[in-house]
Amino acid sequence: MPERKQRGAFIVIEGLDRSGKSTQVSLLEKRCKDAGLPVRLVKFPDRTTPIGKLIDSYLRSDSEMDDHAIHLLFSANRWELAPSIIESLNAGTTVICDRYAFSGIAFSAAKNKPTMSYEWCRAPDIYLPAPDITLFLDVSPEKARERGGYGAERYENAEMQERVEHVFERIGVEIGDGSRWFAVDADREKEAVAEELWERVQPYVKGTEKPLQRLWE
Ligand code: TYD
Ligand code: MG
Repeated sequence: MPERKQRGAFIVIEGLDRSGKSTQVSLLEKRCKDAGLPVRLVKFPDRTTPIGKLIDSYLRSDSEMDDHAIHLLFSANRWELAPSIIESLNAGTTVICDRYAFSGIAFSAAKNKPTMSYEWCRAPDIYLPAPDITLFLDVSPEKARERGGYGAERYENAEMQERVEHVFERIGVEIGDGSRWFAVDADREKEAVAEELWERVQPYVKGTEKPLQRLWE
């Protein structure tokens, strides 16, 4: 039988602010490394590129921007990284992504603007590389509050986070297929959450022969 080529797995971690996302992303990266897997961490927004710098300035409220325009910049920030993500995956590297297109939809649609429907928010990310699995860190508002205050950036307030959560719920339902989107109870101790994430990614991390899909196909 001809040997088929394995590619790396594309894993996305999503969640609200204070869900423990950054902690879990680095714990997952460490687990992969300890298991001898080549792994690359990508974080969106990537604030280091020229587009990322505009986003950073907007998030810190150093600049104002039209809501549609900033939405498209978040998406452009993913498109500019997409070729290198594909390259890593094809080279057999596991790519762990801290936020992705789902945050793009959730935060923008949560603004509840008549001209920024869910469908409109989803459109610019269509055909981006699709994750093999997305793990949504589900934190309760009580737990998020307990974990200490939000930062000072735009969107970091309880009311906005609640609206964002509702859009994330819709995305989870829309993706449907239970093997591609998992809500993980993130109210638990970080070790327990890390353990579940590690179990969930097992079918993928050893590499996969499945061709990379495109978003929303
Ligand atoms: P975040 O991951 O919270 O960055 P940090 O760890 O540096 O705080 O992302 C910053 C904010 O950007 C966060 O509130 C979510 C928001 N966001 C969007 O509005 N659209 C997007 O497409 C992405 C990726 C993030
Ligand atoms: Mg944050």
